Amino acid sequence: MTRQSEFRRQPGHARLTPPAVFALPSPAQSRSALSLAPGGSLRPQGAAAPARAIPAISIHAFCDSTAAAAELEAASTDRRLAKAHVEISTGGIDAALAECAAGRTPNILVMETALPPPQMLAKLDVIADSCDPAARIMLVGHVNDIALYREVLSRGISEYLVAPVSPQQFIEAVARLCGAQSCGEVGRIAAFIGAKGGAGSSTICHNAAWAISELLKCQVVVADLDMAFGTAGLDFNQETMQGMAEALHAPDRLEEALLDRLLTKCSQHLSILAAPAAIDRDYEISSGACRTVLDALRQYAPFAAVDLPHVWAPWVKQVLISADEIVITAAPDLANLRNAKNFVDFLESTRHSGGRPRLVINMARQRKRPELSVEEFASVLELEPALVIEFDPETFGLAANNGQMIEEFSRKARPAQQFRELALALTRRSEPRELTKPSPLAPIFDKLGLG
Ligand SMILES: Nc1ncnc2c1ncn2[C@@H]1O[C@H](COP(=O)(O)OP(=O)(O)O)[C@@H](O)[C@H]1O
Ligand SMILES: [Mg+2]
Repeated sequence: MTRQSEFRRQPGHARLTPPAVFALPSPAQSRSALSLAPGGSLRPQGAAAPARAIPAISIHAFCDSTAAAAELEAASTDRRLAKAHVEISTGGIDAALAECAAGRTPNILVMETALPPPQMLAKLDVIADSCDPAARIMLVGHVNDIALYREVLSRGISEYLVAPVSPQQFIEAVARLCGAQSCGEVGRIAAFIGAKGGAGSSTICHNAAWAISELLKCQVVVADLDMAFGTAGLDFNQETMQGMAEALHAPDRLEEALLDRLLTKCSQHLSILAAPAAIDRDYEISSGACRTVLDALRQYAPFAAVDLPHVWAPWVKQVLISADEIVITAAPDLANLRNAKNFVDFLESTRHSGGRPRLVINMARQRKRPELSVEEFASVLELEPALVIEFDPETFGLAANNGQMIEEFSRKARPAQQFRELALALTRRSEPRELTKPSPLAPIFDKLGLG
């Protein structure tokens, strides 16, 4: 049995496409998620939610204050809400009730109100008559009080959050209302982009993906989105396939069986969704098709490495915003620094989850070439490089021409170890046991029972 099928047998990974009709858990189930924390503040129980995709539900929020509207607006761009339809309006409880009375109740209705408790509760009294009972209602209020909280819940409200509500808190509350089971754990996506063409981004992407698949023995997909010039096929020494072109052409048909056919298997744990790498056609990539393909990959494998070309287009922005991890590869010169800075600023303003990008400075310490220092990069970007990889034309050139990863070409080469480090960082794992060097005192510790 392959690792791939093992992965798919795990609970929560089974579904490729969301169900047409999404059934939310009962209000009683959802309600149990809230409790009064010590100190009198109302806090949801449980740890921060992992990267769970919220299904294709409708969420309509009616806010009283511009601050709350801005917070929810920020949350709505989060990658975990990519499938959900989120609408934000003004008007608070009154507007929400009017919308429901008109027969337009969303799956999750969010109401933010600055009303004092007596007026707020009076308005909530009529909620049962106005809203579809299948809807879950989330109330954002400004009063932190347990008695009020109980009163609110007794009127059929599923969640009461105290303002200000951060995007993270909002998404966690939505996830609770959807029910963790239904949201399903999904695979992680890392997007790789070069600050300049030729900086080595594809090389880093392929080697990191390979290291993940070998170290963690989990299924990894390299998705090559450089349609005309992609090198994943060459780098993994595979016949050119049309995988990515077909996937983008008919994204809605991407079931597991079709993905199996479109992927080219390179090793036990690594497959590529290869670009056609031909210039006889024009390739128009739409953000929607791209998102559907990446969603399908999230359901298919625990990890996908997306190799982005050095272009700036709406679909590239969308991949960068929605990826769990981003690796920017830059060579140590001024143009790379400027472009990397632009990327970092863009990502800082558009991504509300998933952490900061990781910076790889590649082709460093090239003989006779004046270059910018690591410190200059770190201070301009306010980002410590995750890796600094030296210029090594012999190792990289031979590996590329042989269709090998650096690790296969020379396991002892310094970049091979660096790719393993990047692999562990991207998957948020620590070094597997067999990789850590045994202590010379290990046999003695073993004898003393301290091993
Ligand atoms: N550290 C390095 N030292 C020497 N050559 C490298 C290094 N990293 C990448 N290369 C080579 O640089 C070339 C361009 O790399 P590629 O990954 O295609 O760049 P990009 O995807 O950013 O356009 C390839 O021939 C690759 O083998
Ligand atoms: Mg490339």
